[in-house]
Amino acid sequence: MVNENRFASILVVEDDSTQAIILKKLLKDQNFTFYFADNGTRALDIIYEERPDLVLCDWVMPGISGIDVCKEIKSNPKLASTIFILLTGKNSVDDQVFGLEAGADDFLNKPVEKSQLLARIHAGLRQKQLYNQLQVTNKILKETQAQLIQTQKMSSLSRIVAGIAHEINNPANFIYGNIQYLQEYFQEILEVIELFCGEYDKLPPHIEELLGEIDLEYLKQDLPNILASMKTGTQRISNIVASLKSFSGLDEADIKSVDLNKCLDNTLSLLEHQLQEKNIDVMRQYEELPAIKCHFRNINQALMHLFSNAIDAIEMKQGLVSEFRGKITVQTSVLSEEKLKISIIDNGTGVLPEAFENIFDPFFTTKPIGSGTGLGLSVTYRIIQRHGGMLSCNSFPDAGAEFVVMLPIRTV
Ligand SMILES: Nc1ncnc2c1ncn2[C@@H]1O[C@H](COP(=O)(O)OP(=O)(O)OP(=O)(O)O)[C@@H](O)[C@H]1O
Ligand SMILES: [Mg+2]
Repeated sequence: MVNENRFASILVVEDDSTQAIILKKLLKDQNFTFYFADNGTRALDIIYEERPDLVLCDWVMPGISGIDVCKEIKSNPKLASTIFILLTGKNSVDDQVFGLEAGADDFLNKPVEKSQLLARIHAGLRQKQLYNQLQVTNKILKETQAQLIQTQKMSSLSRIVAGIAHEINNPANFIYGNIQYLQEYFQEILEVIELFCGEYDKLPPHIEELLGEIDLEYLKQDLPNILASMKTGTQRISNIVASLKSFSGLDEADIKSVDLNKCLDNTLSLLEHQLQEKNIDVMRQYEELPAIKCHFRNINQALMHLFSNAIDAIEMKQGLVSEFRGKITVQTSVLSEEKLKISIIDNGTGVLPEAFENIFDPFFTTKPIGSGTGLGLSVTYRIIQRHGGMLSCNSFPDAGAEFVVMLPIRTV
């Protein structure tokens, strides 16, 4: 058997009806799933539809020959692992070399003996099984390699990011902190100017001229706007720095024992205004959870990123479908004594298929410039990973996305 859950499947291709009857007799009572074809075209149809594990095929047939069938399946990467045994009356060395070069795995000379036929089939199926195992191992190896590269990439990036965050933080705080003083000083200077102007019925011409040039009235109106946008800008820098810090693990303090259902509620209450404004319903399907010890600020931040993304995806959908009502379902459950699960499901656009591979990469965003930094999911991924958990995504294009957080339960 090739697969433990099913019998191996074998396609027998023979155009000669007498030979076909003989083969069927020889193979009777064997625990395989059989398909039979009496020409090359039919054989190829069955191969594409049923994907048999092994093909036992006559060489000489009218139309598409056994060699042609063999060449076609061996040149198709999806079928190339099918074991191909050529059944032939040709037994010269040249013929065998020709057959092997076409990709055949084995030969059987006619007339065929039962014991030999079965022995070759079993040998072929063992080969197929080894090939399948190799493929599985290869896949695991590739995944492990990708994970290692990702971890390595993330850890070097963390160091750089921590440095950048530190460098940006100081000047940004400096600007932010001084805006308030700037506002006050400006107000005071303005008062002085107004007081001074009020003292004279007529100002000296050069002062009148200067006041006209600088357009004092406009300046009085515009400066508060400039200061306000500077404040917003620096606030945005601080938010980015906060994200960068937690991405790089700088905020390791604040370990606390928390009820994650409460964390979810707190985060949702911060977003309440947005949710209402954007016509988004929230369904809470909570199971009682044990308190877990975690960096609660970071966990809150991670949840906030996931909810913000869900809101963004719904908003995008609303831009495409009028009167669309958004829905976010939040589920929590205890999976075992060691593990709990949080699932955040939205009915937004779903993750774009071409973006799926990259969504956890730092700075990857599909949002317009200025509205997304592309840090949300990478920060969230790191936070969950640092807690010994896993973050994964299931996307249902056009129907929404689900982000699943698995966390270990640590006893307090
Ligand atoms: N719930 C979701 N539905 C659909 N796509 C999503 C969802 N969550 C994330 N994505 C996709 O993953 C990308 C990366 O998300 P991420 O949170 O890292 O960055 P962002 O939301 O674009 O920007 P930021 O979070 O920094 O404001 C998004 O641009 C979006 O394409
Ligand atoms: Mg985001």
